[in-house]
Amino acid sequence: MTNPAIDIPITTSSVARRWSLPVWLVIICFVTFSVLLGAGVAIWKNAPPIPAIVRSPSHEIILTQADIKNGQETYLARGGQHIGSVWGHGSYLAPDWTADFLHRWGLATAGVLYNESPDFEQTDLEAIAAPERASLEARVKQQFKTNRYDSETQELLLTEAQVKGIERVFADYSELLKHGSAVHSIPNGWFADDKQIHDVSAFFAWTAWTAAANRPGSPFSYTANWPHDDLIGNQPPAQFLIWSIVSVIVLIGAIATFLFIYLRSEEETVETKQQTLELPAITPSQKVTSLFFVVAMALFLVQIGAGMITAHYAVEGHGFYGIPLDKFLPYAASRTWHLQLAVFWIATCWLAAGLYFAPSFGREPKYQGIANAGLLVALTVVVVGSVVGVWAGIQGILGNKYSFWFGHQGYEYVELGRVWQLLLIGGMVFLVVADVSRPPTCLKERRKHYGFKSFLLL
Ligand code: HEM
Repeated sequence: MTNPAIDIPITTSSVARRWSLPVWLVIICFVTFSVLLGAGVAIWKNAPPIPAIVRSPSHEIILTQADIKNGQETYLARGGQHIGSVWGHGSYLAPDWTADFLHRWGLATAGVLYNESPDFEQTDLEAIAAPERASLEARVKQQFKTNRYDSETQELLLTEAQVKGIERVFADYSELLKHGSAVHSIPNGWFADDKQIHDVSAFFAWTAWTAAANRPGSPFSYTANWPHDDLIGNQPPAQFLIWSIVSVIVLIGAIATFLFIYLRSEEETVETKQQTLELPAITPSQKVTSLFFVVAMALFLVQIGAGMITAHYAVEGHGFYGIPLDKFLPYAASRTWHLQLAVFWIATCWLAAGLYFAPSFGREPKYQGIANAGLLVALTVVVVGSVVGVWAGIQGILGNKYSFWFGHQGYEYVELGRVWQLLLIGGMVFLVVADVSRPPTCLKERRKHYGFKSFLLL
């Protein structure tokens, strides 16, 4: 049986481009990564301080830097960003803890200022007559917006009302973190240890302070008045709204300009050539590479399963059709698996596509099949290690220190422990170096037909 004849479109450009597309790619990567790195340095330099001591006017120590840092590590190690969020990024089944803590703290402080009691709800505030309420709100704003951090001594002074308010919020959080909540899919006993509960609350309190207190010399807070809260005076500054709108317009304008210039300078002619398909024999490395796709499909199925469990938790916070699943696979773990496995199966397909097509560009190097099998084993070790690791981190089995390295780093999309992340990056870099160092004679031959596409594929 002869192979069918197919039409192959060959595109040629009649206008010579001053710079080729790979050069543009390098320029764009250079510019955008420079901006990204510049922004990273600016964020690092302007990060809000973590006070050595947070104290009351009577010199009582309310929190220490060690409490806040330990709370942050504990929160991240236990997959906190997959249950709620701080400073606005993370999951939203539970509240944004910065916003929640800040508002509770604002209300409790208002209660102390109003009638000496921190037991004060939103309804109590709304029941106050308008003029009196406005005066109370102005006093609450003054308490929270004034920055009482001393950079010399590294001490943060809270007002008497704020101290009474924060104690009330700590009591609320102790209840929530210990006994969980079906509405927010927080398992009963998420934290059993009182010290951990105190420190995680201290971390939330610190994020709330940074969101409220004005940055020195500035009319808005360290987080540019985010999250929004009218009670403590967090409204978005006008220039941020304007710059957000301007940036969207600039983005759309830049894309339009690029397309305009590209399409104007490009006159392509498409020629169609008939060619009989040659189906080359499958090489040993390609046979091994097919297994990558089997692994990717398995990961995809588990990812979808984890997505379905995650979705169900929004309805039945503690379980799955009556099974108390949150004891073994809590929301934070199923959501983490859902996101992390998506990254893994996409990366596996990307690797596999490159490996599968590579022999079509020339002769297959000796032992390539064994090398690909080695890569598959390495990938499996990283996937299994990180999937088990994030689960163990969330369940509190690994402790804060080991969770960072082998369990859960706590970030979204980069959940896997740092060791697994480094191994994955190492594998990718090795693959790129191995590909680029291979003499691309075949690529040169084919370049006239496929050009930039061959470059991208490699
Ligand atoms: C039956 C299929 C799926 C179900 C039931 C499902 C369910 C979910 C659920 C419940 C969440 C959490 C939403 C939240 O935090 O509020 C989620 C988030 C997410 N899912 Fe899926 N998912 C499915 C398929 C996929 C696929 C195929 C991908 C990617 C290849 C994907 C990528 C993501 C990502 C990236 C997030 C995080 C979004 C964010 O944080 O904003 N999902 N999914």
